[in-house]
Amino acid sequence: MSAAILDGKAIAADIRADVRTQVEHLLANGGRAPGLAVVLVGENPASQVYVRNKRKACAEVGFYSELHELAATTSQETLEGLIDQLNADPKIDGILVQLPLPEQLDETAITERILPTKDVDGFHPYNVGRLVQRMPLLRPCTPKGVMTMLERTGRSLEGLDAVIIGQSNIVGRPMALELLAARCTITICHSRTKALADKARGADILVAAIGRPAFIPGDWIKEGAIVIDVGINRGADGKLIGDVDFAACSERASWITPVPGGVGPMTIATLLQNTLQAAELHAD
Ligand code: GUN
Repeated sequence: MSAAILDGKAIAADIRADVRTQVEHLLANGGRAPGLAVVLVGENPASQVYVRNKRKACAEVGFYSELHELAATTSQETLEGLIDQLNADPKIDGILVQLPLPEQLDETAITERILPTKDVDGFHPYNVGRLVQRMPLLRPCTPKGVMTMLERTGRSLEGLDAVIIGQSNIVGRPMALELLAARCTITICHSRTKALADKARGADILVAAIGRPAFIPGDWIKEGAIVIDVGINRGADGKLIGDVDFAACSERASWITPVPGGVGPMTIATLLQNTLQAAELHAD
């Protein structure tokens, strides 16, 4: 089998166009533009690129956005003060604190400081708990974006065996909850998992979120599986490369996401959807 490509770039463009139309509608009816505040602490180069892309996407769909760049030495008190101010600001519907934070800062306390209705990352324990209980409010962007891509395959997910490699709070765990809610049977794998290759070979849906370039070889893929590559790694030549050996896995999968142009653009498009949803929560 030669896999069909799940084109995240194209699906994300559709989502952005849809969000833009809804913003135009809001404005035409006397509403205000949804507002996103992005907070970047320190000078992590990868975070700077992500933040720039998120703000550019906001501008394209007509959102109001503001960037708060703070020094790497910022104190917990200062950052919490900024979040309190953004929580109270009626122009702001979503607050995104780019992770990771410098080590003197308590990431959990910062996440919990954001109002759950402004938590467009879906990382607040309130939003995580709602997802666990199948009553989601704001859902983490990358796993929600993956669910949108899976819908585009036209395949029913019910009863499929889903194997997720990676157990992070940002991707692996919420991905498992999303797939469980879609009635898949879930296996979450991590660095202590035994017989990883055998588990991968049982997957109807394989989600790779490991952070190691081309870690998944072709012979780990069941014939006809859907392969979702969440990895964004830099090869020695500076090019982006996923967690999956794309050429080899394409020969066995039915659907596969490329890197770049797969899950990455979906994460940003889903952030826009979440910010619009937050604005609707704040409208009345
Ligand atoms: N760092 C890596 N991914 C993310 C994300 O989705 N949101 C935030 N806030 N930080 C991240």
